Amino acid sequence: MYRIVLLAGDGIGPEVVREARRVLEACATRHDLELEFVDELIGGISIDTHGTPLRDEVVALCRESRAVLLGAVGGPAWDDLAVDVRPEKGLLEIRKRLGLFANLRPASVIPALVEASTLRPEVVRGIDLLVVRELTGGLYFGEPKGRSEVGGVRRAVNSMVYDEDEVARISRVAFQQARLRRGHVTHVHKANVLEVSQLWMEVVEEVAKDYPDVELAHQLVDSCAMLLVKDPRRFDVIVTSNLFGDILSDEAAQIAGSLGMLPSASLASGGFGLYEPVHGSAPDIAGQDRANPLAAVLSVAMLLETSLECAAAAAQLREAVSRVLADGHRTADLLLEGEQREVVGCRAMGDLVLQKLAGQ
Ligand code: NAI
Ligand code: MG
Repeated sequence: MYRIVLLAGDGIGPEVVREARRVLEACATRHDLELEFVDELIGGISIDTHGTPLRDEVVALCRESRAVLLGAVGGPAWDDLAVDVRPEKGLLEIRKRLGLFANLRPASVIPALVEASTLRPEVVRGIDLLVVRELTGGLYFGEPKGRSEVGGVRRAVNSMVYDEDEVARISRVAFQQARLRRGHVTHVHKANVLEVSQLWMEVVEEVAKDYPDVELAHQLVDSCAMLLVKDPRRFDVIVTSNLFGDILSDEAAQIAGSLGMLPSASLASGGFGLYEPVHGSAPDIAGQDRANPLAAVLSVAMLLETSLECAAAAAQLREAVSRVLADGHRTADLLLEGEQREVVGCRAMGDLVLQKLAGQ
């Protein structure tokens, strides 16, 4: 029996999480997974109800669960609050307190949506890559950091710091993910100038010995940025530090197209993970049944694969999503300019995925 905590949050969060839950329930039934769902609050709705974006009880509950499925937080109603009680604070807090050190952002292009990318179809067709970003170390957290003034001149310092254990654990996540995919890891670095990258290089090589079935390559970060728009299909799993991963995962997301299609996972040790769509709470369309639930649904596929270790269910779900789109069904955000199609709502898109799953 696995416990799944649902943190729907604000805006379109509850709409997309509702569809994601229905889909997860259907997958669980089919694959004999026993799940228990618990709903809790995060973000603006938690501020309104309890005066804080994230309660300790919620963190404790998540710790006693197998996975968390999160919608989105934030919205204009809370924009004027102080930084410490804003909805986004809840998100940063939960990532930190649950020890989520590995951020996984896949970028793939579903055949039916090839035309939606800003890149040419022949470059985009068949992209299927995964950025594994270290999330709790590196330049964003390293000491010393801060501002100073020396002789009337303003200075600022940040430090890129990693120890070998931090590098080894994120490398293992990358190699394990590669085993679920095409068996290839690209380590992205700047080892020609950074000592930190040289350490990464050494440690990634050492960890690779435990995964002889996975192929390892190293790529400089600047040329990787170029190759991502020139020949993105060459990549399977990319593993890299916090800073490089922040930049490259956004670049890869844009190649793949719509925000409404992008899932993500943040993992701690031992298979626990938090799964969420990349998009925000979309206040402009909230409560109108216009949100695309597929980013949340594809986050469920990642949850099935990684936290519930049911790769077969994940594959079926991804296939169901592809087929719904191949049949021509679109939520409003997926329409191309000038395209004349009937638009389906959030709920109806959830129904279509469920029908495909049932028919497989
Ligand atoms: P956003 O991702 O919420 O929306 C950007 C645009 O994409 C909007 O036009 C929206 O309607 C559209 N969109 C996003 N997701 C969609 C979906 N599933 N289906 C159809 N259309 C979709 O980003 P924005 O507008 O910058 O932020 C809105 C609020 O969300 C802010 O309060 C922000 O702080 C918060 N936010 C929360 C995140 C999270 O919870 N992880 C991430 C990003 C923003
Ligand atoms: Mg970013």
